[in-house]
Amino acid sequence: MFNYRRLEEDQVEYVTVASIDELVDGERLIFEIDELPVALFFLGGQYYAIADLCSHDDGPVAEGELEGLEIACPRHGARFNLETGEAQTLPAVVDIPAYPVRVVGDEIQIGLPLEEG
Ligand code: FES
Repeated sequence: MFNYRRLEEDQVEYVTVASIDELVDGERLIFEIDELPVALFFLGGQYYAIADLCSHDDGPVAEGELEGLEIACPRHGARFNLETGEAQTLPAVVDIPAYPVRVVGDEIQIGLPLEEG
């Protein structure tokens, strides 16, 4: 699957999703942007954003347990890399989107792909 983190600056639109005070290290925020379920993690001083929709059976993957930069879907245990969205274990065989994150001032912004056309 396409890796959204490889998108160039002119291929994404950055959307402010939180202020840096809202997320302490080790925590996560789960929300929707225009009905797109997204999860933002702050781990070891780095931000990571993924789609909160498991590619196996649409489970709420971001509610799962973390091990390093891997998250385990609470529904059937498939694991995904937070940085790339890559599916690491069965039963998922398809990656999930991972989005670029940047901090501007005290705002955390997620880069969502621009609509084509
Ligand atoms: S829905 Fe996530 S592993 Fe099945």
